[in-house]
Amino acid sequence: MLLQDKTIIVTGAGGGVGKGIAQVCCREGARVLIADIDADVAAQTALELGPLAMSVQCDVCLDEDRQRLVETAMTLGGQIDGLVNNAGVNFAKPFLETEPKDWQRVIATDLEAVFFLTQYVCRQMLKQSPARGSVVNMGSVHTLAALPGSGPYDAAKCGVVGMSKSIAVELASSGIRVNVVSPGLCNTQIWEDIKAAAPSQQACTDHWKNQIPLGRTIEPQEVGELTAFLLSDRATSITGANLLIDGGMTSQLISREPYEPKAIDG
Ligand SMILES: NC(=O)c1ccc[n+]([C@@H]2O[C@H](COP(=O)([O-])OP(=O)(O)OC[C@H]3O[C@@H](n4cnc5c(N)ncnc54)[C@H](O)[C@@H]3O)[C@@H](O)[C@H]2O)c1
Repeated sequence: MLLQDKTIIVTGAGGGVGKGIAQVCCREGARVLIADIDADVAAQTALELGPLAMSVQCDVCLDEDRQRLVETAMTLGGQIDGLVNNAGVNFAKPFLETEPKDWQRVIATDLEAVFFLTQYVCRQMLKQSPARGSVVNMGSVHTLAALPGSGPYDAAKCGVVGMSKSIAVELASSGIRVNVVSPGLCNTQIWEDIKAAAPSQQACTDHWKNQIPLGRTIEPQEVGELTAFLLSDRATSITGANLLIDGGMTSQLISREPYEPKAIDG
């Protein structure tokens, strides 16, 4: 198994992408700390995942919760081998209507919390013998391209890439690796919300199929497979990377024509 006997923290693991990551990590033999602001969903997920999973209520925006999270993780196996900074909030509001409180909420959760939880965890990893560990930060296709009305989210996710590269190069010689996983549209609550906001589910699904060359959303467990690999000792030469898992979305210049185009020769 890829992660046998490792202890891994996954934030925002009560549902969505984080739950998929936690599932794969447990399957691969890791002890997984399911950290979520919602105590009930965290407990329910830990129950579903079995004896290798444990839940803890944690608001990643609160410094005391971040410290308590690290202390709780240490009670599982006496060391921390991996951290997945997955907890995040989404955002869509026109630029001209975005208020300071919107900016602060998104930056606090999607960027600042990632920096300071990583700092606590890396301090602990450096005390271990041998000092080593793997951090995976959740990016997004928004690290490569933008959507209207996503200013704070785009800033946070691009910031996650910048800070991850910085920490990766600073700690590389200490045995700690830091990488970013950047999913495209995933089959989570956000996809349900997008469909619910569309005039018709069919039109919505057709539209998104055209945006994603693979023709479908990404499953949370698929993000889990990539994340588990990066957390494992099979990825020992990978650090500072931003790996896309987007079904080809960001490789496609424009969406496919809704008709059969003629060949252009010359
Ligand atoms: N779903 C997608 O299509 C998609 C695409 C690209 C990137 N992402 C990223 O993946 C991550 C997870 O997204 P998701 O779609 O699964 O979200 P989600 O809303 O379905 O789940 C997020 C989880 O995080 C928890 N959470 C929220 N704020 C928290 C906080 N302050 N402290 C601790 N837990 C908190 C929630 O309770 C929830 O269980 C985010 O970082 C998001 O930006 C998602």
